[in-house]
Amino acid sequence: MTVKLGLVGTGTVGGGCLDILSAHRDDFKRLNGIDVELVRVCSRNSETAAAHGVEDLFTTDFNDVINDPEVDIVIELIGGTTAAYDLVMGALRAGKNVVTANKALMATHGSEILELAREKGLEVAFEASVGGGIPIIGPLTHGLHANGVSSVLGIVNGTTNYMLTRMSETGATYDDALAEAQEKGFAEADPTADVDGFDAAAKIAILSTIAFNTPVNLDDVYTEGIRNIMPTDLAAAKEMGYCVKLLAIGNRTDAGIDVRVHPTMVPLSHPLATVNGVFNAIYVVGDAVGETMFFGEGAGAGAAASAVMGDVLEVARHVQQGCTNQVIPGNDGLSLVPMEEL
Ligand code: HSE
Repeated sequence: MTVKLGLVGTGTVGGGCLDILSAHRDDFKRLNGIDVELVRVCSRNSETAAAHGVEDLFTTDFNDVINDPEVDIVIELIGGTTAAYDLVMGALRAGKNVVTANKALMATHGSEILELAREKGLEVAFEASVGGGIPIIGPLTHGLHANGVSSVLGIVNGTTNYMLTRMSETGATYDDALAEAQEKGFAEADPTADVDGFDAAAKIAILSTIAFNTPVNLDDVYTEGIRNIMPTDLAAAKEMGYCVKLLAIGNRTDAGIDVRVHPTMVPLSHPLATVNGVFNAIYVVGDAVGETMFFGEGAGAGAAASAVMGDVLEVARHVQQGCTNQVIPGNDGLSLVPMEEL
């Protein structure tokens, strides 16, 4: 069976997905037995589609993707929480599985989206919403699921880590470092989300929801960005044996789940201090496994597209097997509920 894909959004990440499909589609089939075919591409303009030779699949209206009976999986890469919300909910109502890289959407409307997916027996996969190319949602959902997690924390915004690294290593000004990060394609369309910590806040809300099996809303996250950090602060921290990182932190405490984002002085001896440039790292402490750390490129076309296409292949495998209704992160399966509600 060929699993049909509809891609919505052909910006940096969408372009990266088209690159991966062009390079590896035959390998997916030959090596993994997963046969995927792009049948629709939706975007505001057709340039990227034309550059990848798929302009015949092109539309500017995402309803054409949702309503296409052929499409099995909708890939949402438009970002934001308005049109993307309509697209994702519309796709689920139309019986399509969804893969999304949208952290703001999942941090804001994740419960509602996952609930609808569960009702419909469909899958919503969002590995690319946190940590760029680092697989972290999968390990938290599966490999570490047997642990009581006490802490999930780390560097989850590539733009600000790149900026802090440049400011520390070369004395670059905040503005120059931001311009460089934007030029490299790491920053959000509106970089305020990066520098003021909102991007990291959405990501730690998602990670904490899964790690602690407790819904964490964006509003619950204390959020402070790096706008006020000066190169002199970084130099002073270094003299004291620290570096400054924008940490996203989720801790289980006696009072409840404490979730926050703020610049933090990290001892130079800590593994997170070695994470520089666009790299992200997520440090998870579980009662059985102990300390683990996941490391990789946190932003950029290739990294994010790697995570998106990994999800696409996994969902496609379930579609091929006729069983898309997988375990959904945050599912409170241990609750005592009346059997008729199961
Ligand atoms: N702007 C984000 C970052 C992109 O810099 O980490 C990946 O989510």
